Amino acid sequence: MSGTTNQRKIEHIDILQRDPETDRNRAGFDQIHLRHRALPELNLDEVDPSLSFLGKPLSFPLLISSMTGGDHEKVRHINQNLAAAAEHCKVAMGVGSQRVMFTHPAAHASFDLRQTAPTALLFANLGAVQLNKGFGLPECRDAVDVLKADGLYLHLNPLQEAIQPEGDTCFKGLADRIGAVISGLEVPVLIKEIGSGLSPPDADLLIAKGARILDVAGSGGTSWSRIENHRARSGGDDLGLLFQDWGVPTPVALQELAPFREQGVILIASGGLRNALDMIKSIILGASLCGMAKPFLEPALESPEAVIAKIESIRRAFTTAMFLLGCPNLRALQGNTDLIR
Ligand SMILES: Cc1cc2nc3c(=O)[nH]c(=O)nc-3n(C[C@H](O)[C@H](O)[C@H](O)COP(=O)(O)O)c2cc1C
Repeated sequence: MSGTTNQRKIEHIDILQRDPETDRNRAGFDQIHLRHRALPELNLDEVDPSLSFLGKPLSFPLLISSMTGGDHEKVRHINQNLAAAAEHCKVAMGVGSQRVMFTHPAAHASFDLRQTAPTALLFANLGAVQLNKGFGLPECRDAVDVLKADGLYLHLNPLQEAIQPEGDTCFKGLADRIGAVISGLEVPVLIKEIGSGLSPPDADLLIAKGARILDVAGSGGTSWSRIENHRARSGGDDLGLLFQDWGVPTPVALQELAPFREQGVILIASGGLRNALDMIKSIILGASLCGMAKPFLEPALESPEAVIAKIESIRRAFTTAMFLLGCPNLRALQGNTDLIR
């Protein structure tokens, strides 16, 4: 099984590169239209998209979402390139699931990113279902420590596990175990899906267990159901294709979860965000931070400079949109649904 966990990350990247339809391109952000201001009463060079998140400064609200790690040159290269760019551009970064380092000690190196990114906001990552398979606070602490992370993401992926031939589908009683990690861990715990979204009953349950930061990771972008279908082929029933668009599209998830902000919940938007306008719309719908995974895969395979160029182009477009909406800062943007036509 340990070989499988390590190999799987490479297979996922190969499948994403081979099959463009794993990126579903249907989150629905294009159906949201914003109110253009011909008279923004602002100077473009005064627009300030910066913020502070968990006490660290970010140049604008971008998160490179959790992708990879393991004992392989390719994934070490990806994480190093992303970390160098996150540091240079002052954006946040999550690593992929760190479960592999408990079976493959050599995988530690791929998560050891603090030298490359001494000040960046970095998030560790584990699958929440592992808490039902023997993982607990010690493993969560190890995952945080190797990265000297600012927080730990626990991901929820029942669809992916159900399609995976070797999937862990024992999700019963998980909320209590997540609650125990939230109350015991020294750093904040963030809960995310991986592309099917969170629904209000999930938020209710997670908030009751102490969760305060929810990343909707909705549908419409990378489809893990479709990716796993490639790997499950031998079964031949194409279950992963039937469910490839299953879930809550990201803008819908944000709208449904926005009322929880009144209880102090911080929302992160991800799943199918593909450009700065998708980010702007997510912030208007109440998100504090916007994550993208797949858009960074190709640049990360190339070089730190390629990732930096991608981030800088997104930041320029983000600032331009703020100018055209007449918003001098994120306070004027966040949750301001009057900006939607
Ligand atoms: C290559 C790749 C690997 C991923 N691995 C993980 C992972 O290990 N843990 C996790 O929480 N999410 C993982 N994700 C999911 C992303 O963090 C994100 O939630 C999802 O892909 C939706 O975002 P996107 O549409 O921008 O790709 C991965 C995504 C990609 C593209």
